Amino acid sequence: MTDPVATAVPVLTIDGPSGSGKGTISRLVASRLGWHYLDSGALYRAVGIAAGWADLDLSDASALVRCAFDTEVSFVDEAGEEPHVLVNGVDATTDLRTETAGAAASAIAAIPEVRSALRDRQRAFRQPPGLVADGRDMGTIIFPDAAHKVFLTASAEERAERRYKQLKEKGVSVTLDGLLREILARDARDASRAVAPLRPAPDAVCIDTTGLPIDTVVERVLALLPAPGAPPV
Ligand code: DC
Repeated sequence: MTDPVATAVPVLTIDGPSGSGKGTISRLVASRLGWHYLDSGALYRAVGIAAGWADLDLSDASALVRCAFDTEVSFVDEAGEEPHVLVNGVDATTDLRTETAGAAASAIAAIPEVRSALRDRQRAFRQPPGLVADGRDMGTIIFPDAAHKVFLTASAEERAERRYKQLKEKGVSVTLDGLLREILARDARDASRAVAPLRPAPDAVCIDTTGLPIDTVVERVLALLPAPGAPPV
């Protein structure tokens, strides 16, 4: 049964492919609004990492589903910084951002039962005063009743360059070509899977962030919400 209190809590969904700027934009928007933030990709990555720790076969769906139910994930906020992510109590923040974790997440995310196993956990983030939810299916499957939905895109080349800069800053050694190939492969897998494929909700506002500074995108997203003090939509 739907919880009437939870559904009264406003949600802004921000979906899009990897490197579209979802994470950065969502965090900034959540902080400007004073709302909670859900990084749903981190949940899939955490299960991928936990599966790796347990040496699970990425084709063993039932073991992966158990792993999705059993893996404890907690987000530790530190003022002004990216939240730390604890997976089964271990700080996995750095491991979580690697391309290996992204590829494992994308593979397990194609299993329908893994997606169902994580569904209620994601919905539980809907707490007052509001939630900004970032992912691939936030506006289509997890929060279809969200009043505000955004779909961010950017050219694959620009997304690869953004990832390249981010990883370089973290001292991770990668090539731009390799990243572009991985991004294209991940896009294709996320968009072509049978369940919850990556696509904008029919009522989402699409923003192409190619060439746009972060602040501009944040302002465009905030402009979609009613001004503070206006009656709720
Ligand atoms: O957003 P991200 O790059 O951290 O996500 C990693 C992978 O997890 C992505 O390739 C697909 C999957 N994912 C998903 O299927 N659904 C979500 N809501 C979030 C992520």
